[in-house]
Amino acid sequence: MSDTYTPQDQQHQPAHRAALAAIFGAQRTERLALRRLRADDGAAMFAIHGDPATYRHKPSSVSPSLADSEETLRAWLRQWEAEGFGYWAITLAGAQEIIGFGGVRRMVWRDRDIANIYYRYMPRAWGHGYAPEMARRAVALARAHLPRLPVVARVGGVNPASQRVAERAGLPRRADLDDDEYLIYALGWDA
Ligand SMILES: CC(C)(COP(=O)(O)OP(=O)(O)OC[C@H]1O[C@@H](n2cnc3c(N)ncnc32)[C@H](O)[C@@H]1OP(=O)(O)O)[C@@H](O)C(=O)NCCC(=O)NCCS
Repeated sequence: MSDTYTPQDQQHQPAHRAALAAIFGAQRTERLALRRLRADDGAAMFAIHGDPATYRHKPSSVSPSLADSEETLRAWLRQWEAEGFGYWAITLAGAQEIIGFGGVRRMVWRDRDIANIYYRYMPRAWGHGYAPEMARRAVALARAHLPRLPVVARVGGVNPASQRVAERAGLPRRADLDDDEYLIYALGWDA
């Protein structure tokens, strides 16, 4: 696979996109299955993103309706189609129930393309180390296959569990990049 990924190139390289999709589309970690999103994941999206417990650190981000979650899902699906990678649906290996969503998706942040790292799990699945297990794989894949994209975690300052996940994923703390809303952890972001 080429190591010269840029989003612009990607638009014109269906073979590269397909190669990325083959890698990112289905992954297994020790305990988890990480798979490409599907159009029928809307109910699971809403179950997690519409639960106030998921967003107790940022109540304004609770998804207000199934339709809202489905709209987000469609945007993420379009990104998979266009780029060959994106956020995963996460299950326990061998199980069907989605326990979380996460991974990396391309995003423009501070006028640069980044691989934004994300993790949202149902409360029942918290406390087992599933988020760092997924995040470590996401970081490793991004660095190996999307080397031009810095991997960035933007974490709420009042969310110590999330900060811990970023640390355990191997992302260095970049206090120099913090803003009013987020603490920043990043790999591959040169000043
Ligand atoms: C944040 C979240 C992803 C963590 O996932 P998880 O699979 O439960 O992660 P872990 O089991 O590894 O626990 C996270 C770590 O934070 C620690 N932690 C949990 N709550 C904490 C708290 N209130 N204060 C300090 N540390 C805390 C845990 O002890 C653990 O630390 P350890 O690695 O030293 O053992 C999960 O709780 C979640 O989905 N929350 C809702 C969505 C969210 O906040 N996402 C992040 C938005 S930026």
